Amino acid sequence: TERTLVLVKPDGVARGLTGAILARIEAKGYTLTGLKLVDADRAMLEQHYEEHVGKPFYEPLVEFMLSGPIVAATVEGQGVIAGFRSLAGATDPTTAAPGTIRGDFGRDWGLKVQQNLVHGSDSPESAERELGIWFG
Ligand code: GTP
Ligand code: MG
Repeated sequence: TERTLVLVKPDGVARGLTGAILARIEAKGYTLTGLKLVDADRAMLEQHYEEHVGKPFYEPLVEFMLSGPIVAATVEGQGVIAGFRSLAGATDPTTAAPGTIRGDFGRDWGLKVQQNLVHGSDSPESAERELGIWFG
């Protein structure tokens, strides 16, 4: 079966939404096979977000991810990579559809980075690379 990396970002943990987010993943029928609270360091985040180096939101993104603990999860199930991305909703929480994690729990806070509660790997290759960073 397929597996993906899910992160509850610092905003989700700080707002006490970890349980609600994990409950949605389990309610959909996916299986949690790894779970931990992580204080990320800059080196991990530089690897995790290497595709975004040089973009205007890159540095604020890294600072945001350093701002508090993150919940990292390994989630398994048929089609889970696309399925979790669908559950998470669009990157921008303002336009993410109601019914999605970002659409229901997220909003624009007027900051330099979109605080959008969760991360999910976007391909099998990304998933394996990212699982190595967070669970290696
Ligand atoms: P992740 O699951 O976190 O990777 O989100 P994503 O795949 O929907 O978005 P992407 O990988 O393109 O961007 C990574 C993160 O950077 C996003 O989740 C946002 O927190 C932030 N981000 C992406 N695009 C923008 C943008 O245009 N403006 C701002 N301010 N932040 C952005
Ligand atoms: Mg992404």
